[in-house]
Amino acid sequence: MSPTPKSIVVLVSGNGSNLQAIIDQVEQNKINGRVTAVIANKASAYGLTRAEQAGIPGIFIDHKSFDSRDAYDTKMMEVIDQYQPDLIVLAGFMRILTPAFVDHYQGRMLNIHPSLLPKYKGLDTHQRAIDAGDHEHGASVHFVTPELDGGPVVLQSKVPIFSEQDPVELAERVQEQERKMYPLVVSWFCDGRLIMLENKAILDGETLSEMGHAIG
Ligand code: GAR
Repeated sequence: MSPTPKSIVVLVSGNGSNLQAIIDQVEQNKINGRVTAVIANKASAYGLTRAEQAGIPGIFIDHKSFDSRDAYDTKMMEVIDQYQPDLIVLAGFMRILTPAFVDHYQGRMLNIHPSLLPKYKGLDTHQRAIDAGDHEHGASVHFVTPELDGGPVVLQSKVPIFSEQDPVELAERVQEQERKMYPLVVSWFCDGRLIMLENKAILDGETLSEMGHAIG
């Protein structure tokens, strides 16, 4: 493990259960880093409460008070950079990012998406997987690049889709996997084992395939 804990800034829009999983693993010294700030674009995001409970600065930046996406993302970068982040973690941050923002954090920004990428980019992924008659579904952690939900995948976790599957129950099972996989990937990054190079995810010196590593 590298001796200097990495500075991790987490962006949320809602519940923040992935954020909580990362905070818990930091507290158990399983991640060589600390969450230095949590930033939300919604005042009601429960992730802000979780930050407060953990003694982490929680900052609400209201996208509605900015004229443009560029202006909002510029402000976000200004605030985020005060924490000198080694890693930006998107944990249910439901906004499309500008190319300037993505460029600024290229190679040090991760996202979790509730599908087995490259399947079902965008929204409503659980229902779409059921409607397509898929037998399996899951979540992916990937580096963020300018293509929406299109950056190199680091890790995927699969869950079965049962007959007459309820999307809410499916989402719960996917999220249970998410809370295991996201802290793991964050720990790899903080240990210097995971990097992005030439649009590929590299773990322990090996280039990962299009689907990344698989667990579950
Ligand atoms: C997670 O299921 C995550 O995969 C999804 O939002 C949820 C956030 O849950 N993200 C996206 O859909 C991004 N496109 P949380 O707030 O409890 O961590």
